[in-house]
Amino acid sequence: MNLLVVGGGGREHAIIQKLRESPAVETIYALPGNGGIAQDAVCVPEIGAKDIGKIVDFARSHRIDFAVVAPDDPLALGCVDRLHAAGIPCFGPDAKAARIESSKVFAKNLMKKYGIPTARYEVFDDPQKALDYLRRGGVSFPAVIKADGLALGKGVLIPQTLEEAERAVRQIMEERAFGDSGREIVIEEFLTGPEVSVLAFTDGTAIAPMVSSMDHKRAGDGDTGLNTGGMGTVAPNPFYTPETAAVCMETIFLPTLAAMRAEGCPFKGCLYFGLMLTPDGPKVIEYNCRFGDPETQVVLPLLKTDLLTVMRAVEEETLGNLEVEWSGGAAACVILASGGYPEHYEKGKTITLPEALPENVTLYHAGDALREDGKLVTSGGRVLGVTASAPTLKKALKDAYAAAEAVDFDGKYLRTDIGKRALAALEG
Ligand code: AMP
Ligand code: GLY
Repeated sequence: MNLLVVGGGGREHAIIQKLRESPAVETIYALPGNGGIAQDAVCVPEIGAKDIGKIVDFARSHRIDFAVVAPDDPLALGCVDRLHAAGIPCFGPDAKAARIESSKVFAKNLMKKYGIPTARYEVFDDPQKALDYLRRGGVSFPAVIKADGLALGKGVLIPQTLEEAERAVRQIMEERAFGDSGREIVIEEFLTGPEVSVLAFTDGTAIAPMVSSMDHKRAGDGDTGLNTGGMGTVAPNPFYTPETAAVCMETIFLPTLAAMRAEGCPFKGCLYFGLMLTPDGPKVIEYNCRFGDPETQVVLPLLKTDLLTVMRAVEEETLGNLEVEWSGGAAACVILASGGYPEHYEKGKTITLPEALPENVTLYHAGDALREDGKLVTSGGRVLGVTASAPTLKKALKDAYAAAEAVDFDGKYLRTDIGKRALAALEG
């Protein structure tokens, strides 16, 4: 089969490497892909992930048998709808179902209507009303203020005081710090507890949750600094016990799928549940309509079942007949970022990779490019994800950090405490 993967980050690299293990796969095209992905797929840098028309034309002219649309933007823009209309089977939700991520207002209202546990909230489309609500003491501090639309994971502010909250409302709604995604906002209560990411394959009715994981969203050690796309991940997440998983299945996962069906937008693809294990039980912080990045880089290495088989079962709505199997070990991913990320950083730094890597270590390329002279150079904030799999988390972390040391580029920045909390929880 000829496959097409839309996207060009570390997540897409992990998906492509896993798909390559499938005996049915002949060629994989990555649109646009990146410098490192070019070792594993035919990259088409001229076609960006949001060029929906060009993606569909490419899929037609290259006789694509199956497409995987990985990032949120093309999903929200209806890439899957358009590929389906062209007769191309694909993995990912249609635009209507992708609203579960692309509109936080939609997601929050869905949870309220169907009794799915989440933070208490109010929605505002008028800054004055939002300010009145805050001044009336409608929410206590810290509070959480979220822009409605997609904002590269940055549209969430956590003001500690009324003054900070007022500034946040103005930034999002009046100055449009996150563009049009700030037309509406959600103001919600601040929840506490360990965060867990659960990605799940679903065909709209059946669901196969993947191994749980833990992201590290802040830029600095000790969870300090700005929010980023994610500086590292570990799987499984030790806070997510089998008992918690059972509660989530009953109170969150199955009700969410039923709610989406009832709303006339059944969700097919990978549904990402961002959960907080609060003292009152697990609650939904956010949904994403796609694989997480860098969660995918620790979850897919632990998948034993053929990924293409699973994805086709999702598309054909036969997931309920398939047993999706996982290896019992652990994985850790350490992100190597460009110094200055998530704010200003330089690009074009030459990357030196180790000549050989241990068998249990993989480098997932996220933000790099092949220069004309054949040199691999940095081209983004998150440059590489170094993943190690091992029987224990401790060993996975040791091996990931050792390999991270062996990669070099000017300004390389990494967090030194990925997995520290998880290890502490495991070691009691
Ligand atoms: P989101 O983009 O919705 O995942 O939010 C980004 C991050 O903000 C989350 O990973 C949480 O760490 C934090 N966050 C979002 N909503 C809440 C909430 N209601 N209470 C506490 N923290 C939150
Ligand atoms: N790592 C968080 C996300 O993919 O949204």
